[in-house]
Amino acid sequence: MIEPLTIAMPKGRIFEEAVDLLRKAGYQLPPEFDDSRKLIIDVEEENFRFILSKPTDVATYVEHGVADLGIAGKDVLLEEDRDVYEVLDLKISGCYLAVAGLPNTKMNDVAPKIATKYPKVAATFFREQGEQVEIIKLNGSIELAPIIGLADRIVDIVSTGRTLKENGLVEYETITPITSRLIVNPVSYRIKDQRISEMVASLSEVI
Ligand code: PRP
Repeated sequence: MIEPLTIAMPKGRIFEEAVDLLRKAGYQLPPEFDDSRKLIIDVEEENFRFILSKPTDVATYVEHGVADLGIAGKDVLLEEDRDVYEVLDLKISGCYLAVAGLPNTKMNDVAPKIATKYPKVAATFFREQGEQVEIIKLNGSIELAPIIGLADRIVDIVSTGRTLKENGLVEYETITPITSRLIVNPVSYRIKDQRISEMVASLSEVI
């Protein structure tokens, strides 16, 4: 039997859209995908092995070659320089990175503080604007930072805008639009080129 194609899938909000897209592309994924706590799901009919991982870890698995392919957010790819090929914009989980903060406030003149899960993206953005800032790395609930006085601004993902609104924050600038991408391990890309190209072709038809 040929070795299965291993695909790292992001758990959480991207997962459902990614599964829908694969099904639309003609792949038979079992009902297990809709309600399971399993972290590895083998789909023998398609000769696939799925690894269900944290969205921020997908590119790590693919870079290290334990997954041939993965579905990763452009936000993670921008933040982490991973040695992977980005082969397809899946155009799912659309959102954007933005600068936000309390309404009608100015940033501190001296080294304003920016809280974010994306220190590299944030540092690059403000550097390009000619602003010297201090980056404060957080792992979640970023919107808390301006409210409790930890930061002047945040750099975070905006999807529906609800989190900002319900916490009394406003957007100041858009940084870049974000969607999920199909990424491939460079060695797998050579060795399993036929199966990967087939997948890229079937997905391209339904995007
Ligand atoms: C993300 C992001 C925002 C929120 C935006 O957080 O960091 O907080 O979603 O979505 P919205 O515009 O639709 O409200 P996530 O839910 O991934 O959790 P986190 O706070 O742990 O980052």
